[in-house]
Amino acid sequence: MISPTMQNALNTQINLEQYSAQLYLAMGAHCETLSFKGFAHWLRVQAGEETAHAVKLIDFLLDRKGKLELKPIAAPPQEFGGVIQVFEQTLAHEMGITQKINALFDLSRTEKDYASEITLQWYVSEQVEEESNVGQVVDHLHAVGDQGGGIWYLDSRMAKRMAKA
Ligand code: FEO
Repeated sequence: MISPTMQNALNTQINLEQYSAQLYLAMGAHCETLSFKGFAHWLRVQAGEETAHAVKLIDFLLDRKGKLELKPIAAPPQEFGGVIQVFEQTLAHEMGITQKINALFDLSRTEKDYASEITLQWYVSEQVEEESNVGQVVDHLHAVGDQGGGIWYLDSRMAKRMAKA
C-alpha cells in the first residue's frame, strides 16, 4: 500500500508527464508550420515518450494499490518563436522536470518508500539522458544558427529519430 502523500505526489507527476506530452505535441506542430519536418518528427516522438513516462508511473501506482487521480492537463502555449527558441524552451522544461523528479526521489526517502525510490531511480537516469539529448540539439542549433543550410541539415538528421522500443 502506498502512503497518501506519495500517492498525491505521483499523481501530480503523472499530470506533469502528460503536460510534457501536450507541450511537445504543440511544439512539434509549430515546427511543422515552419516546414521543419525533422524537428517536428523529433518532438512528436518525444511526446510519445512522455506519455510512456506517465503510463509507467500509472502502472506503478496501480501495482501498489494506489488510486489514480487524473487531473486536467494544462493547455500549452501556442507560440514558441524560431526553432532555436523551441529547443531552448524544451531544455528549460526538462531541467524543471528534473527538479520535480529529484524532489519526488527525496520524498520517497523521507517516507522510507523503497519501492517508489527504486522506480524513481529510472526517472532520475532518464532525466540525465533527456537533458543531454536536448542540450546537444541546442548546442548544434546555436552552432549553425537559424539561417542557411546548416539548420536544414540538422532538420534532416532530426527526422531519423526512432521511437524507443
Ligand atoms: Fe518525462 Fe522529458 O521527462
